[in-house]
Amino acid sequence: MDGCFDLAHFGHANALRLAKACGDELVVGLVPDDEIRRCKGPPVLNEDERRAVVESFRWVDEIIFDVPYDINPEFMQTLWRKHRIDYIVHGDDPCLLPDGTDAYAAPKKEGRFMTIKRTEGVSTTDIVGRMLAASQQTRRGFLSPRKSGGSDKGGNESGEKLSHFCTTSRRVAQFSGGGGKPIPPGARVVYVHGAFDMFHAGHVHLLEAAKELGDYVLVGVHEDEAVRSRRGASHPILNQQERSLGAMACRHADEVIMGVPDEVTRDLIATFNVAAVVAEEPCAPALADTPADPNRVPREMGIFREVAKGTARGADLTTATIIQRVADDRAAY
Ligand code: CTP
Repeated sequence: MDGCFDLAHFGHANALRLAKACGDELVVGLVPDDEIRRCKGPPVLNEDERRAVVESFRWVDEIIFDVPYDINPEFMQTLWRKHRIDYIVHGDDPCLLPDGTDAYAAPKKEGRFMTIKRTEGVSTTDIVGRMLAASQQTRRGFLSPRKSGGSDKGGNESGEKLSHFCTTSRRVAQFSGGGGKPIPPGARVVYVHGAFDMFHAGHVHLLEAAKELGDYVLVGVHEDEAVRSRRGASHPILNQQERSLGAMACRHADEVIMGVPDEVTRDLIATFNVAAVVAEEPCAPALADTPADPNRVPREMGIFREVAKGTARGADLTTATIIQRVADDRAAY
């Protein structure tokens, strides 16, 4: 399956899951930045940042680079011969080149093309739209949850941009590799919690670091209201269900709690037998009126571990940086 996988979302993750089910091994062809710019307009994330997320998805076996948007006969020979690929898979939406022709005409002609059903209700364009609406709200001064009154519908308060995506129990089981792994006896459980909004390379770095500190990574995805009170009324961009699916698709997450308050409690630590609570320091800057330290309890218990911010391959990316990029270049998006 080839693609841009810009701001890789659960629709992309689902596409990869379905593609993997079409065969034995899934190779992803990541379209380079220049090629995306030429055919679709500028990507929000660069190739390194897109790569980090795609390779963290649990269904991906291998990634190849420098793939053209147009699957031309010459490149097809490279796919079949060098990479020993048998079929190309794509969502059932049309994929047109700038001249209006079908990017997959050649593999279709050879009978080596398969489609999977596109996941409705999410796209990169839609997420960019939500970010633009969020940055507009921020500019208008809706920074504080108190100023705007808050909402409990999930997603940000951009009204028309609110997601209506519904997660089923089956989708959760599919995304979490069969319903989450049970905690093996004696395993060292590491708890990582956060908003995990628009699951990105920075999140991948954090979960990788957590995995190195233990045997089992338990991810707590903050409730929408918790994200809103800490980051402002224009957050989160994706609602709690969407953010949870993003974290679940990551191979480093063994289990995901879909909605936790942002303060780690003694109850949670006892219930899951948590040996360490991991966070990147400093945490997202808190608004003046939010409760102080979400990691106070694990700090007092001596089980809090800080992870240094990464630098390689987009590991220092944050949700705020992504929103800023889109806001700074709104004309391009
Ligand atoms: N895809 C999907 N469901 C979505 C979005 C994408 O099944 N909601 C599939 C596409 O059909 C494609 C693969 O994911 O096979 C990679 O998509 P990509 O090249 O990133 O581009 P788009 O299809 O344009 O995705 P988006 O609209 O989100 O930018």
